Amino acid sequence: MKICIIGTGYVGLVTGACLANLGNKVVCVDNNKERVAILMGGKIPFYEPGLLEIVLKNSKSNNLRFTTDLAHGVKGAELIFIAVGTPASKNGKPDISAIIEVGNALSIAIKSDKKKRRIIIIKSTAPVGTGKMVAKIFKDNAIPQNMFAIVSNPEFLREGVAVSDFMSPDRIVIGSVDRRACRALAKLYRPLNARIVYVSNKSAELIKYAANAFLATKISFINEIAGVCAKLGADINDISHGIGLDKRIGKDFLKAGLGYGGGCLPKDLAALIHLLKAHKCVPRMLQSVDAVNKSQINKFVSKIIAVLRNTKNKQIAILGVSFKPGTDDFRNAPSRIIIKRLIARGIKIRVYDPVIKKEIKLVIPSAVICKSVYEAVKGADALAIITEWPEFKTMELKKIKFLMNRPFIFDGRNILDPKKVRALGFTYTGIGR
Ligand code: UGA
Repeated sequence: MKICIIGTGYVGLVTGACLANLGNKVVCVDNNKERVAILMGGKIPFYEPGLLEIVLKNSKSNNLRFTTDLAHGVKGAELIFIAVGTPASKNGKPDISAIIEVGNALSIAIKSDKKKRRIIIIKSTAPVGTGKMVAKIFKDNAIPQNMFAIVSNPEFLREGVAVSDFMSPDRIVIGSVDRRACRALAKLYRPLNARIVYVSNKSAELIKYAANAFLATKISFINEIAGVCAKLGADINDISHGIGLDKRIGKDFLKAGLGYGGGCLPKDLAALIHLLKAHKCVPRMLQSVDAVNKSQINKFVSKIIAVLRNTKNKQIAILGVSFKPGTDDFRNAPSRIIIKRLIARGIKIRVYDPVIKKEIKLVIPSAVICKSVYEAVKGADALAIITEWPEFKTMELKKIKFLMNRPFIFDGRNILDPKKVRALGFTYTGIGR
C-alpha cells in the first residue's frame, strides 16, 4: 500500500519504518528540516533500540522515504497517518494545534487530487472529538464527504521497546464508522496477526487515554503500598510478585519506584483529568494517582537529605537520568526534579547515564557529567539510582564502596539486593523494602 506518515517522532517514525518493513511504500513527512536531514543522512533523531537498522534497510530498498514537502508526501497515498505531537497546555488540556495545522495543510494538498479517496488515520494521542474536528476541516475546505474517511487508530508502543511493541501489539484499535476504511486498515495490519477492536472514533480516542491512565494507576497503587512496606518490614517487590501472579491483576506495571515520567503517562493523565472536569465529572481517583506519583519524588529527596544531615559541600552520584531505561528521553523524568531539589540544598551532583550526555548540561548546567558509574561515585557522599539501566544491576559494589566518601545507597528503582548491599557495609534505602 502507498502510505504517508505526517510527523517523525517516536510514534510516526516507528510506524513508518515498521510499515515499510512490512512491504509498504512509505513517505514520512516532517516540517522540521533538521529532523528530515538527519533521517535522509541515514541517522535517527533519538535513541530507540532496533529502529535505525529498519530505517536504513527500508531507505535502501526505497520503501521508506523522507521529505519536508507535505504535498509531495501525500501524492498517491491511500492511507495518510497523522502522528504529530499533542503536548499538554498548563491546565492539562491537550494542545491540538499541530493536528489542526496538518488537517488544513492536508485538505489543500489533496484538493488537486480529488479523484482519489483518502483514508486519514489519527495516530497521535488526541482528545475525544478530534476525528470529528478533522472531518469538519476537510468539509470546510470543500473536500466531498465521499472522498475521505477519518479513522482514530491510537498507538500503544512504549519507548525503548517501540519496534517490538509495534510489531507484536496486544490489540489494534480501529475507530471509525466507515467500513471501507476499517477494511483497509485491517488489511494493512493483517501481517501483525493481532486482535483488532472495532469501535467508534470517540471510543478509540478515549481508549488511549484510559489505557495510559490505568497504567499510571497501577504504578501509583503499588507505590502507595510501598509506603507502608518499609514500616512493616515487608518488601514491595515480594508484594508485586505475589499479587501480579493473579491473572486478574497482571504482573506488569507493578514495579515500585520513583513514579512514572516521560512524554505520555503524565500528559495523558492530566488530559483525562481535564476532560472529566470539563464534563462536570469529579476525577477523584485520577487526581490521587497524580498526587501519589508526585509524592514519590518528595519522599525520596527527603530521605536523602535526612541521611546527609548537613548538605553543604556534599556530593551525590546520580545514576540514570532518562525517564526509564532504553531511551534518551528525559521529558518529565523524575531525575530532573530530584537533581534540581538536591542542588537547591547546596549538594553537588555527579551524573552518569549510559545514553544521555550533553543534554543534561543544558537542563542542569552545574552537574558534573561522568563517563562511567565509577567516575560518578568518586568522592560521593551518597549514590542514588534514578533509572534502572541494566548495567547498574551488575556494577561492582566493592569498587564503588572503595571510591565513595560515605557508603549510602538510595535505590530508587529497587534493582539491588538489600541483603548483599548491606553485607558489603553500605547503608541501603530502597522504595518499600
Ligand atoms: C506509555 C505506554 O506504556 C504506551 O502504551 C503508550 O503507547 C505510550 O505511553 C504513549 O502514550 O505513547 P512510555 O511513555 O514509553 O509508554 O513508557 P512506559 O513504559 O509506559 O513507562 C512510563 C513510566 O512508568 C516510566 O517512567 C517508568 O519508569 C514508569 N514505570 C513503569 C514504573 O514506575 N513502574 C512500572 O512498573 C512500569
